[in-house]
Amino acid sequence: MKIIWLGHSAFLFESGGKKVVIDPFLTGNPVFPKELRELADGVDYLLLTHLHSDHVGDALELSKKASKVIAIFEICKWLELKGVKNYDPMNIGGTIEVAGLVVHMVPALHSSGFIENGSIVYGGNPCGYVIEFGGHRIYHAGDTGLFLDMQLIQRLFSPDICCLPIGDRFTMGPREASIACNEFLDVQTIIPMHFDTFPVLTGKAGQFKKLVKRGSVLVLEPGGSVEL
Ligand code: NI
Ligand code: MN
Repeated sequence: MKIIWLGHSAFLFESGGKKVVIDPFLTGNPVFPKELRELADGVDYLLLTHLHSDHVGDALELSKKASKVIAIFEICKWLELKGVKNYDPMNIGGTIEVAGLVVHMVPALHSSGFIENGSIVYGGNPCGYVIEFGGHRIYHAGDTGLFLDMQLIQRLFSPDICCLPIGDRFTMGPREASIACNEFLDVQTIIPMHFDTFPVLTGKAGQFKKLVKRGSVLVLEPGGSVEL
């Protein structure tokens, strides 16, 4: 399986001719390499973790060419209001299987809503995902603080790859994310995300790497990829 980091929390996973994209923040993402824009077209599964603009990103545009958009129920209803028809709703604790992909929706400790036409749109609970794809189990934590139930995610799904936010302020910082790796999860490959996108995100990959004692930290450059 090939993993391409599109910067921030946006990832593209590619295996067996199928593509999964999570949190497609491309337009307006200062670190997104624009030459990769075409890669995000025609994806098989587009997954959204919560209703913040740095995660929903280009979802409305990309949904036109995607086969399925997977999100929590309330985000799917918002997508419907915007004319999106190919959505597939789920909720925390649930699992769905769509040709070649198993998706588990897991909790995240965060918020989910944005302002549209002067009012707040409620996005339901924020979430993370564990996807079973290309022979791997990948935990994408979305935006989250540290929470003890990450132990339950480990127990239920034993992910071998995880993408964890480390930028601090809006999510875990390096210290909290390292506790997730050292004490709650037991994952071989750890990819940090949600850092260095904007100056307010002060958590650094170098600090995180020093603190992690279990699993190996793989720091990608935006646009960088790895075959696992
Ligand atoms: Ni957020
Ligand atoms: Mn965010």
